[in-house]
Amino acid sequence: MIQKHLLKMADLTEQDILEILALADQMKFNQKNGIPHKVLEGKTLAMLFSKASTRTRVSFEAGIIQLGGHSIVLTGNESQIGRGEPIEDTARVLSRYVDGIMIRTFAHRDVEILAEYSTVPVINGLTDYSHPCQILADLMTVREKKAALNGLNVCWIGDGNNVCNSLIAGALTCGMNVRVACPEGYDPDSDVLAAAQNNPQFNLLRCPKAAAEDSDVIFTDVFASMGQESEQEQRQKDFEGFQVNQELMSLARPDCMVQHCLPAHRGEEITAGVFEAHAGEIFDEAENRLHAQKAVMALLMGG
Ligand code: CP
Ligand code: NVA
Repeated sequence: MIQKHLLKMADLTEQDILEILALADQMKFNQKNGIPHKVLEGKTLAMLFSKASTRTRVSFEAGIIQLGGHSIVLTGNESQIGRGEPIEDTARVLSRYVDGIMIRTFAHRDVEILAEYSTVPVINGLTDYSHPCQILADLMTVREKKAALNGLNVCWIGDGNNVCNSLIAGALTCGMNVRVACPEGYDPDSDVLAAAQNNPQFNLLRCPKAAAEDSDVIFTDVFASMGQESEQEQRQKDFEGFQVNQELMSLARPDCMVQHCLPAHRGEEITAGVFEAHAGEIFDEAENRLHAQKAVMALLMGG
């Protein structure tokens, strides 16, 4: 991996992604078989959270411990960031103490500034714009079940949000056919669409059924992301017909997988029936956050 940081999927080449996934598979094998892999002995990861988290928080913390390091978590207003200390200064201070910084926040620009001013690797643990760690885990999970990524039909049903932006970039880079179905007004970010629009393997649709047809993998996520809670009611109306349900699944290939980054809202973006029928894959996806992020940390912080 040539980059110093992991800020967004579009920064990764296919070779980078395959390198991360190969190491992630190795990390998983080592952990399952009790094979020591403390490649970050004595290293410290700082984790900054301006939003809630279960998976990201626990998988990064468990991951750095399994690699022989440890973490320091700063949430919400407990650091001086909450009182207005500039990101530029926070980056320069933390760089003197720790070996890597994971950040979950709102504005993607804040993560870019953090990376510009940091002398240690910065890992994006979700912004309003992107969630690269999620898509690395998702690609790992899909590859485990389908053997290869190239040429698979994947579709996204729902909001053109951070996870969708990252899926488009990552899946197209890996040679997958990508269909995205969003209601008007909820498209992926314009730069993501600009980068994808001339790719014959990409289609933006308004019809979830057309998107789901012959799919190998259906992805979805909540209608209102963190920070959009006040729009929940309006979104529920606007996303009518964009639920992953049995009718939609019947249009996909018989062995179609379902991926959901979680947390899931049953009865909204996905029915309880479809969720439970695909719970094995969905919780494998959650597990693979651990292994994929251990690979990212080892590659970026291993020195
Ligand atoms: N999928 C995901 O990032 O989960 P958390 O919000 O719990 O970290
Ligand atoms: N799109 C969701 C993903 C949560 C992991 C959000 O940003 O809240």
